[in-house]
Amino acid sequence: MNFEQIWAALPFPAFVIGPDGKIGEANTAAEVFTQSSVRQMRLKSLKTFAGETSALHDVVRQAQQGMNSVVLHDVEIGWGDSTRGFANVLSTRLQNPENEVLLVLHPRGIANKMDRSLLHRNAARSVTGMAAMLAHEIRNPLAGISGAAQLLAMNLPPEDQELTALILDETKRIGKLVNRVEMFGDARPISQSGINIHDILDRSKRAAKAGFASHMQFKDLYDPSIPLVSGDADLLMQVFQNLMKNAAEATPTGGAITLRTAYRPGIKLSMPGKRSKSLPIVISVSDNGKGIPSNLLADIFDPFVSSKANGSGLGLALVSKIIADHGGIVECKSSQTGATFQILLPVWQEKEA
Ligand SMILES: Nc1ncnc2c1ncn2[C@@H]1O[C@H](COP(=O)(O)OP(=O)(O)OP(=O)(O)O)[C@@H](O)[C@H]1O
Ligand SMILES: [Mg+2]
Repeated sequence: MNFEQIWAALPFPAFVIGPDGKIGEANTAAEVFTQSSVRQMRLKSLKTFAGETSALHDVVRQAQQGMNSVVLHDVEIGWGDSTRGFANVLSTRLQNPENEVLLVLHPRGIANKMDRSLLHRNAARSVTGMAAMLAHEIRNPLAGISGAAQLLAMNLPPEDQELTALILDETKRIGKLVNRVEMFGDARPISQSGINIHDILDRSKRAAKAGFASHMQFKDLYDPSIPLVSGDADLLMQVFQNLMKNAAEATPTGGAITLRTAYRPGIKLSMPGKRSKSLPIVISVSDNGKGIPSNLLADIFDPFVSSKANGSGLGLALVSKIIADHGGIVECKSSQTGATFQILLPVWQEKEA
């Protein structure tokens, strides 16, 4: 096998960086991405191209020091005087005597998805003010309606009580909807504590089995060594309840929900101007249902996006808000054989208390 050819064909920009921070090699995709030739780059410091303060140096340094590979999400890459956009960056130490590091960029594509999941936060926020106001305004007349229906029911013959029961049921439904909408208006920082995510998943699973997911099989693939998550137990319960409910609704005749957990210390989220943050805890909820309708896929986390006759389209918007409030990320993948929702969360640090 000719490794030169593989190196040249690799579709992602890749560099080999020496211990002194100098570029040793760059592949064809790197030449295209940086619009510089290998000859121009070789033996020059990464700093001369990417700038003194680029997050790339951190990634390289961390890989030099540690044994693991390091991944940074959503890093802004400048090269020379211009910006080359955002990329997810992976670095890993080569096991060679020169102590070199391989640096690989995933421009756009994957990074795009991240962008989008960050945008959902804004979408959720834009309805926040209106939602809070509307919820408040609806609640009072609603209480009036159901109170009046209860009074009416007292004097009605049984055959007409069906109608007042209907009014009560429907006002209850509106009440629930109002409560959910109102949650978006809750801008308080969440109270975080150390949470065993497997407890949360098991509790959610039990509640789901007793109700909307009684027709479903559950499978768990837990990583027992996973550390505590930093979060709010009730809110995280809501997240998994919403995801499991969607999974159950996507497989109306019965199917399987698979819950997975994993610990991946390399995963980091970095946003321009902020310190990068480690999100090593990975939790996923998969189903074997019909998958997410392709026309909805891009907007799935926006409020009021729903393919269901009785859906409010608030489930995933709420999931997205709660996870964003935790400083985490939620992403989804879908195919004809089912959907997978993946959540990345930070580890609980004792000093947070
Ligand atoms: N696991 C899934 N499989 C297939 N489609 C899904 C899945 N999860 C979500 N969807 C799609 O995403 C849409 C939005 O989901 P979301 O939970 O936000 O709202 P909803 O389920 O329609 O209504 P609500 O959750 O408020 O009752 C759904 O209507 C459905 O089309
Ligand atoms: Mg839902």
